[in-house]
Amino acid sequence: MASTLLATFLVLLLLSILSSPAVAQPRAFFVFGDSLVDSGNNNFLATTARADSPPYGIDYPTHRATGRFSNGLNIPDLISEKLGAEPTLPYLSPELTGQKLLVGANFASAGIGILNDTGIQFLNIIRIPRQLDYFHQYQQRVSALIGEARTRQLVNRALVLITVGGNDFVNNYYLVPFSVRSTQFTLPDYVDYLISEYGKILEQLYNLGARRVLVTGTGPLGCVPTEIAQRGRNGNCAEDPQKAADLFNPRLIDMINRLNNNIGSHVFIAANAFRMHMDFIQSPQAYGFRTSKTACCGQGPYNGLGLCTVVSNLCSNRDEYAFWDGFHPTEKANRLIVQQIMGGNTDYMHPMNLSTIMELDSRV
Ligand SMILES: *[C@@H]1O[C@H](CO)[C@@H](O)[C@H](O)[C@H]1NC(C)=O
Ligand SMILES: *[C@@H]1O[C@H](CO)[C@@H](O)[C@H](O)[C@H]1NC(C)=O
Repeated sequence: MASTLLATFLVLLLLSILSSPAVAQPRAFFVFGDSLVDSGNNNFLATTARADSPPYGIDYPTHRATGRFSNGLNIPDLISEKLGAEPTLPYLSPELTGQKLLVGANFASAGIGILNDTGIQFLNIIRIPRQLDYFHQYQQRVSALIGEARTRQLVNRALVLITVGGNDFVNNYYLVPFSVRSTQFTLPDYVDYLISEYGKILEQLYNLGARRVLVTGTGPLGCVPTEIAQRGRNGNCAEDPQKAADLFNPRLIDMINRLNNNIGSHVFIAANAFRMHMDFIQSPQAYGFRTSKTACCGQGPYNGLGLCTVVSNLCSNRDEYAFWDGFHPTEKANRLIVQQIMGGNTDYMHPMNLSTIMELDSRV
C-alpha cells in the first residue's frame, strides 16, 4: 500500500517536472547612462550627485533612499518588472555577486553625459568609457561562473537600456553663460558632435555583445521645474534647452537608422522620451497630475531651485506631480513612460515597441 502510494507520488512528481515549462530565467538586463536610470552606483562614490538620503525613496517599497532619483521606482525597475525579473543591482553594489550577476547589472551614474567633460563639477562619477569597461569586466566575472559561451549567450539575449545626453546640455553647454562648449560650437554643431560621439558609444555596446538596445533621446529639457524656475519666462518652458532637445531627438533617430542599416538588424530601438514627457507636460490633468511644472520636492519658484533634502518643501501626494525634484520624474510619471516604451506606436518607439521586441525575441 505504502509502496503504491510512493510509486504514484513519484510518477506524479516526474510528470509535473516533465510538463513544466523549461525553468525560464528572465532575460538579463543591462543599464547604462545618467541619473534618470542610476539605481545607486553613486552611493559608492565621492560625488555630490547622489540620492541616498531622505526624502528620496519615500515611496520605495522599503521607504528608504536607495540612490534612485525618484520618490519610488525608476524606469529600469519598471522595465525589470515587465521582463518578470528582479531589479538589476548597481554594478558597484557589494551584493552583486554569484547568481545575482545573471540578472544583469546597472552601470549608470548620475551626472554623466555623452562627453567626458560633462558633469565635471560632480567630480568622481562613472563616465561612459568606464561604464563600458565595467561591462567588459562584468562579462569576465560571469564567464568565471558559467563559462564563456553561456556568458556570450546571456549578453546577446539581454535587453539593454541607455539613457544619456540631457546632461550634455544642462550640465555642460548651458551650465554657465559662455561655457567652453557653447563658445566652441553653435547649438546645431554641438548636437552633431554629440550624435557622432553617441554613435561611437552604441557601436562599442554592440562590440561588447549587446543585441537589443533601447536608446532614449533627451526629455523636454526646458520644461523641467529647475529650467522653468531658472530660465523660463512666466512659468513657460525655457526656450534654449527645449530647442536643444528638439534638435537632438530627430538626429538620434537618423543615427540609429544608420547603425541598424549597417548591421542589417534592428539592434537599436529609439525611445522618444521627449514625446512621452510632452504628453503629460501639455495636459497634466489628463494623466491625473495636478501639475507638471512644480516639483514635489525642492524650494523656490516651482520648487525648482537647489536640491531636494529633508528641509525642502515636500508634497503629500506624489502621484499628483509629474516631477519629483527639479529634474527627475515621479514614479507615477515613470510608469507612464514605461507604458509607452512597452506599447507605444512608432511615434514613441522606433522602429517598434518593447512588447513587440519581447514577442519577437521569445521565438528564437
Ligand atoms: C573620453 O575618455 C576616454 C578615456 O577615459 C577616451 O578613450 C575617449 O577618447 C574620451 N572621449 C572623447 C570624446 O574625448
Ligand atoms: C505596440 O505594442 C502593442 C501591444 O501592447 C501592439 O498591439 C502594437 O501593435 C504595437 N505597436 C507597434 C506600432 O508596434
